[in-house]
Amino acid sequence: MESAKVEVNVARLTKELEQLAQFSETDPPAVTRILFTQPDLKARAFLKGLFAAAGLSIRDDPAGNIFARWPGSDSALPAVGTGSHTDAIPFSGRYDGTVGVLGALEAVRALQATGWRLRRSIEIVMFTSEEPTRFGLGCVGSRLMSRSLPAARAAALKDSSGATFEEVRRAAGCSGELESVPLPVGHYFAFVEMHIEQGPLLEREAIPIGAVSAIAAPAALRVRLEGESGHAGGVLMPDRKDTLCAAAEIVLAVERAANESGRADSVATTGVCKVHPGAVNAIPGRVLLEIDIRDTQLEPRDRIVAQVRQAIAQSADRRGIRAEVELLNADPPAEAGREVVSAIQAACRRLETPCKLMVSRAYHDALFMARICPMGMIFIPCKDGISHRPDEYSSPDAIAKGVRVLALALAELAGS
Ligand code: GLV
Ligand code: MN
Ligand code: MN
Repeated sequence: MESAKVEVNVARLTKELEQLAQFSETDPPAVTRILFTQPDLKARAFLKGLFAAAGLSIRDDPAGNIFARWPGSDSALPAVGTGSHTDAIPFSGRYDGTVGVLGALEAVRALQATGWRLRRSIEIVMFTSEEPTRFGLGCVGSRLMSRSLPAARAAALKDSSGATFEEVRRAAGCSGELESVPLPVGHYFAFVEMHIEQGPLLEREAIPIGAVSAIAAPAALRVRLEGESGHAGGVLMPDRKDTLCAAAEIVLAVERAANESGRADSVATTGVCKVHPGAVNAIPGRVLLEIDIRDTQLEPRDRIVAQVRQAIAQSADRRGIRAEVELLNADPPAEAGREVVSAIQAACRRLETPCKLMVSRAYHDALFMARICPMGMIFIPCKDGISHRPDEYSSPDAIAKGVRVLALALAELAGS
């Protein structure tokens, strides 16, 4: 197979990324596309149109994961999977996840145009709810596929309005039972996800491709604080049970725990703080916090989780308020499969493209795909390492390089 034959139509891909970015509930350049909202449903229809135009056979599962398959010459063999997500957190950019879905489509179209006949099928996946925005849990689709999340627990997840995942997916038109989402053993021979790096290393070192060796271990806590609301003028200071003051102590304890871990790989963030009743002249009687804690290793990550739990208990005790802590997820890290990393590195060598072996500090659906098949990830640089912001940017040239590497890696894994 001659690598020169793999031609990426980057103008087409850039246009499709731009079209996809229009499906948003915030004005450009910000993108907000939350699971099963109107923009998400429109984005899904748009994608299916593109998959169909490429002659791929499309399947939805009951969780809303979308599969688009290019059959290989031996379609009974386990397929090679690729893909990512198209949901977007509030006020984010247009490249997170989307590059791995539309880029996978462009890779397949480039492979189709070579005239090569690959042995294994290639299956593109658009995963449901990689982002935890709506249901507090990320990677819902890939967790279900890989039996990492029981169907009953997924069905019962609630959004902030109290609607369950089960209700919301049905309303979005997803039929069938969640119990049927797990993929049969051996469905995939390998899985490759292309993604923007979401960090600064590739750009800083002027290396166009990252081959991911492992994905860091994420955990998240939801904390409900219940104290006493009351009149901001009438209630004297010694009589207060102010939950926002407790939350402030907790937020700083989260930061301190990561700072004092002695590890550059430890990170901890309180990204959600909802205050009730949220009036300037009322004492905050209820607060909801969501806390994200990660490390490349499990043990230091869990140590920070334990320290944060202790800080919550101490603050609540001292202030006489109630604290309920829910562990939303605490996932172990995942290692990439050696054969997938080798396929990515071989593709880079053939294209004479420098490649850096690196860890993913963000999580991805590949973290869960690793539980059912060897996985690998291709990172491309993004400007200043910025992500989860409207000014997120990857150049067409950077994306095109990633797609060529993806196409060749898929071809190698699929065999001829
Ligand atoms: C994925 O979006 C993550 O938060 O790592
Ligand atoms: Mn993201
Ligand atoms: Mn992502």
